[in-house]
Amino acid sequence: MRMAAFTIRSAVDQDFRSVLEIQNDPSVMTASGRSKPISLDEHLDWWVANSKSVDVVVDEDDTVIGFGRLDKTTEWSIQIVSLAVAAAYRGAGIGQRLLEALINSARRSGALSVLARIRTDNDRSNALFSKAGFKKVVGAYGSKQEREEEWWSLRLV
Ligand SMILES: CC(C)(COP(=O)(O)OP(=O)(O)OC[C@H]1O[C@@H](n2cnc3c(N)ncnc32)[C@H](O)[C@@H]1OP(=O)(O)O)[C@@H](O)C(=O)NCCC(=O)NCCS
Repeated sequence: MRMAAFTIRSAVDQDFRSVLEIQNDPSVMTASGRSKPISLDEHLDWWVANSKSVDVVVDEDDTVIGFGRLDKTTEWSIQIVSLAVAAAYRGAGIGQRLLEALINSARRSGALSVLARIRTDNDRSNALFSKAGFKKVVGAYGSKQEREEEWWSLRLV
C-alpha cells in the first residue's frame, strides 16, 4: 500500500487514459461484472457521455489514483455507478474519502437517497458502504448478474 497526499477534483480530458487503466484493472472488472477489458473506442463513447459526472482522486503529481461517478436515477435518488481506487493505493482510506465526497455531492444535488449496486462477494465494498451508513434494501434477484449483486441505500434526510 502506498501512502499519498491526495485530492478529489472533477475529471478533465487529460484523465481519459488513467481512468481507463483503473477500469481495466482485473479487480475493478470483477467488481463491475465485466469479463473483458474495455476497448479505447468503448471508453471514448463512455467518456463523451459521462466524463462531466466523473470525480477523480489525484496524488501530489496530479496522477489519477481513483475515480467515482454519480448518476441520477430518479427525481429524488442518485446512484453511485462507479467507485474504484488503483490497486497500489488501496487500504489507505482513499475509497472512504471518495465515497464521502460522492455522498456530499449527492446531498448538495438535493437527492433524498443514494443508491449503490454491489456484488455480494465484494467484501471490501460491502464493508466500505456499510461503514458509511448504507443499508441493504433489495436482495439478489433476476438475471445471473443481478443475482450476484444487491442494492444498498443511504437516506440523506
Ligand atoms: C472498494 C475500494 C474502492 C475500497 O477502496 P480503498 O481505498 O481500498 O478503501 P479504504 O482504504 O478507504 O477502506 C475503507 C473501508 O473499506 C473496507 N476495506 C478496505 N480494504 C479492505 C480489505 N482488504 N478487506 C476488507 N475490508 C476492506 C474497510 O471497511 C475499510 O475501513 P477500515 O479501514 O476502517 O476497516 C477498492 O478496494 C477498489 O477499488 N476495489 C475494486 C473496485 C470495487 O470493488 N469498487 C466498488 C464497486 S461497488
